[in-house]
Amino acid sequence: MSQYQALHQQATNSPSEFWLKIAQDNHWHKKPTIGVDTSKAPFNQWFPDGEINACYNALDVHVENGRAEQAAIIYDSPVTDTKRTLSYLELRDEVARFAGGLQALGVSKGDRVLIYMPMIPEAIIAVLATARLGAVHSVVFGGFAANELAVRIDDCEPKVIVSASCGIEPNRTIEYKPLLDKACDLAKHNVAHCIVLQREQCVAELSQSRDLDWHKAIDNVDPADCVPVASTDPLYILYTSGTTGQPKGVVRDTGGSVVSLKWTMSTIYNTQPGDVYWAASDIGWVVGHSYIIYGPLFHGCTTVLYEGKPVGTPDAGAFWRVISEYKVKVLFTAPTAFRAIKKVDPEGTLIKDYDMSNFESLFLAGERCDPDTLHWAQKHLAVPVVDHWWQTETGWSICANCLGIEELPVIAGSPSVAVPGYDVQVLDNEGKEAKRGDHGALVIKQPLPPGTFTTLWNAPDRYQSAYFEKFPGFYETGDAGFINDDGYVFVMARTDDVINVAGHRLSTGAMEEVLAAHPDVAECAVMGVADQLKGQLPLGLVILNDGCARDHTDIEKDLIKAVREKIGPVAAFKSVAVVKRLPKTRSGKILRGTMRSIADASDWKMPATIEDPDVLQEIEDALNRLGYADKG
Ligand code: COA
Ligand code: AMP
Repeated sequence: MSQYQALHQQATNSPSEFWLKIAQDNHWHKKPTIGVDTSKAPFNQWFPDGEINACYNALDVHVENGRAEQAAIIYDSPVTDTKRTLSYLELRDEVARFAGGLQALGVSKGDRVLIYMPMIPEAIIAVLATARLGAVHSVVFGGFAANELAVRIDDCEPKVIVSASCGIEPNRTIEYKPLLDKACDLAKHNVAHCIVLQREQCVAELSQSRDLDWHKAIDNVDPADCVPVASTDPLYILYTSGTTGQPKGVVRDTGGSVVSLKWTMSTIYNTQPGDVYWAASDIGWVVGHSYIIYGPLFHGCTTVLYEGKPVGTPDAGAFWRVISEYKVKVLFTAPTAFRAIKKVDPEGTLIKDYDMSNFESLFLAGERCDPDTLHWAQKHLAVPVVDHWWQTETGWSICANCLGIEELPVIAGSPSVAVPGYDVQVLDNEGKEAKRGDHGALVIKQPLPPGTFTTLWNAPDRYQSAYFEKFPGFYETGDAGFINDDGYVFVMARTDDVINVAGHRLSTGAMEEVLAAHPDVAECAVMGVADQLKGQLPLGLVILNDGCARDHTDIEKDLIKAVREKIGPVAAFKSVAVVKRLPKTRSGKILRGTMRSIADASDWKMPATIEDPDVLQEIEDALNRLGYADKG
């Protein structure tokens, strides 16, 4: 039996013992004696009698154990032409001070702090300061609009919001303050304090009584110590897209996160303390939580915080520059970033300008990795390229080629095998285990390992019904695929309305809600169609109310603007067409899948249940006008 198989078997057969042993590697204020309590499944509790603090494990432990002078964060921002390094000692002190500021505003254990910030060190400081107090952070991605922010404010009811005056995209400066004010106005929950970090690129007016300048918030405050919390206490809430417009507040516990993330740094990513690790994502996404902030810091690595893009800041050599300048050992990003680089520099010529000798491996996730991208990266980087599969819900990788355990052969199109801790299976519609190679729902046998979500904020019933009801005893991932004879998992498609645009998870259901709210729209459908760069893009089709005489182009422009304003630019909603009818089954269900296949010009079968097959020709014509359904 291989080393990987042995570990996987141990974790599957005796999860409690397996993880309790691994938990010895972390600092506990009270050491746990129990691994997992499954008596209230699926609300499982990891290390239920342990007490811990995540910030202590990220910072203080390293300061006390000889890493005080080592870089904790390297901030590199081509969009502002800034570079800054913070040692573990500096970061610990800044975090303790900001935690003191939060404490002075009344934040204590269990309170929520919402963080709406660009990719700057203060964002990490705010996250860790919240964790230091045993409070619960909820980071909202900067590309979301005020409306989305308001929904999250109302759901998690933060005592304090921490923000900045602006975010910087290559083509524009995004003023955060007006978005923040609008969100606070829209929200029913009254936010007591908004701390704003002024950036020199755009200074915000702090005119509301709740506003407080970042520096004033930490003036004359005592640094705060770490507050031990129960292992099962929430570390954070991270909202993610589900089937409806109401996002799901994924809750992660403290002990499980510390134990699992530190462990993955050595087993999956094969890093040692002191190594430089770079996740080129955003702190607003799960990848940012787990691998820009927590994982690398729990493990004593140096994390790179990059405020820029793979291309255009200033060129397609940006990633190679960062890798060579900071001796990055491992890079983690989304395949879309590599597609963007490949498009501009197909021969990878810019790579040759940089010293890549410290670079050991590339990890890709967030969306399906197409074999072309995988092969391009393998050829030009000449290091192992690992496609790994995970979700906001799991917080770390379900399937991966665990380089720190044993490097397995790569199969393009598969994120390799189940990581120890995950018992991945494929079930058919009746809930029976599918034969090897047969497609079905990808599920994970309970209990999920530590560090995965423990509930949905304010929605325990939804947690149970959305993930654990259809297949009793299993967690339903929402992905479909198959497992081959060698145990390699293939993740082929979502089974719900979630799409992945440039590695960003979005809900077509939420976009449909925006379109349906337009006064001229009678009915609509949004689907994710294939895109060469971003993997998928949303595309909308709408039917207008009878008697609506407005120009269709004007309505289409309205709709694009509405999605940008209500959901945000990150939705990348730029294609919508007015049609006379939508294809439906005889029971009235819109045939989104068939339309998607037509848009992608892939093979499709006429659904037996279709009400009127002629509609499909009208749809194809509309899609042609939008530049889709091109069979050539
Ligand atoms: N704040 C405000 N707006 C943002 C934003 C942020 N933090 N991030 C993105 N946006 C905006 C973009 O400016 C763009 O606006 P536009 O319509 O005016 O051009 C829009 O949201 C769509 O963004 P995106 O889909 O990311 O496209 P892009 O052209 O800006 O960049 C890539 C494309 C591929 C370079 C970029 O998506 C990328 O680097 N992705 C890979 C890494 C990653 O973040 N993965 C996520 C999970 S691992
Ligand atoms: P998110 O919650 O944003 O991380 O998105 C999770 C979803 O992205 C998964 O459920 C998959 O649909 C998709 N995904 C993530 N990683 C991969 C991968 N390596 N291969 C295929 N799909 C992936």
